[in-house]
Amino acid sequence: MKSTKLKIDRNQKLSKISRNIYGHFAEHLGRCIYGGIYVGEDSDIPNVNGMRKDVVQALREIKIPVLRWPGGCFADEYHWKDGIGKKSQRKKMINTHWGGVVEDNSFGTHEFFELCRQLDCEPYIAGNLGSGTVQEMSEWVEYMTFGGVSPMAELRKRNGQEEPWKLKYFGIGNESWGCGGNMRPEYYADEYRRYQTYCRNYGDNRLYKVACGPNADDYGWTDKLLEILKPWHTDAISLHYYTIPTGDWGVKGKATEFTDEEYYRTILHTLRMDELITKHGEIMDKRDPEGKIKLIVDEWGCWFDVEEGTNPGFLYQQNTMRDAIVAACNLNIFNNHSDRVTMANIAQAVNVLQSPILTDGADMIKTPTFYVFKMFCPHHDAELVKAQMDIPEARCNGINLPALTYSVSESKDGSLFATVSNCSLDEDIQLEVNAEITSAQIITAEKASVFNDFGKPENVALKDYSGFSVSNGGSVITLPKCSVVSFDLK
Ligand code: AHR
Repeated sequence: MKSTKLKIDRNQKLSKISRNIYGHFAEHLGRCIYGGIYVGEDSDIPNVNGMRKDVVQALREIKIPVLRWPGGCFADEYHWKDGIGKKSQRKKMINTHWGGVVEDNSFGTHEFFELCRQLDCEPYIAGNLGSGTVQEMSEWVEYMTFGGVSPMAELRKRNGQEEPWKLKYFGIGNESWGCGGNMRPEYYADEYRRYQTYCRNYGDNRLYKVACGPNADDYGWTDKLLEILKPWHTDAISLHYYTIPTGDWGVKGKATEFTDEEYYRTILHTLRMDELITKHGEIMDKRDPEGKIKLIVDEWGCWFDVEEGTNPGFLYQQNTMRDAIVAACNLNIFNNHSDRVTMANIAQAVNVLQSPILTDGADMIKTPTFYVFKMFCPHHDAELVKAQMDIPEARCNGINLPALTYSVSESKDGSLFATVSNCSLDEDIQLEVNAEITSAQIITAEKASVFNDFGKPENVALKDYSGFSVSNGGSVITLPKCSVVSFDLK
């Protein structure tokens, strides 16, 4: 068995791991909002004000800190006034991006804030810069956050919400280099400056404005954008990067059937997230030396070919132990970059792409990804602690990659917590740790393709783990192949 050492320096606290790194994203796409989260008050599926009880409870179980809405590409076609007022009178429209289905606007601004109330999470709203006007965006902010006398505040009150809501996170355009208007960075940056001017801070509400940042490795976008945007225009820029097993958008690969080589390519592509954050970070440091502008990875996750027999525009896919490894790798990377990355949002919360939760009618399952989010909860708002490891390699058909990813944090009560993913499909790894492990948990499966299915017992879940021993202030823990392991330390 291969072995290595984890050396934790508990005296070196590096940065705070914002709990918002554990954020989610819910778009008007396929069965994410409609059917997955919102079923309406008259549904037979148990709900509170239209929100599925089972899904809300599951998202609360993983302590969802923030939820991004209404898109995605949908955001730049969304006109918020269509989604307020009497539901029977709301406009129906075609969701041209996603499946060409009718959007009846029954889930709008009020429903979103009600959802966040039930989830006890922060709202993160993406405003429409692509096809909406400055006035429309400005009025939406006024509608949501202004407490005085004004046309929009009066309209909100007439629609049943007396008090303004609290709204911090506000995105101005989504993927403006693509579905959000196919803009060049110079043009978008100027438009951004204009739109953000009219997104006001009313009363004590302070917006945290997010500009559309790069697609994957488009370093030119970041450079040009931050030549034009200054910290007084924006608090953060976004990064979107998806894991595509083949690296080819044409034939992405299947969610549940894949070869070992495809698995390793998937992990290799996932680990690129570290390089992307580092390199965009270098440009950010050059353009904003004081580091005031932060990075928000507000779309990440696996993107596979859609499940056979489902609407191709709905992006529905199953979720296996491979997804759990991908989630753990990404979350460890975000933790280790928590000086710069202040939020991340997995795409998407329910029934779309790499979802923690899948539903089928009234049934719901928790995916392997769900259990990774549950396992990582102790990292929320903890301090990243310096830790060092010589990482062994995993190899397959000429693909070499680090077999392990890890992060270590200290919570407010002084307890240490570590998470490690063993990405190898055939080698257990023994890890020596310079502190005493008090308890451990594991997510693993016989094969990376194992998943949880409707109507069947759970194959992948979070379990207590006893594969460690303690002596003389140190520990040795076995990290089984294809597993995610966490441990608490004294
Ligand atoms: O998450 C699905 C889509 O991926 C989003 O709508 C878009 O922003 C991205 O291209």
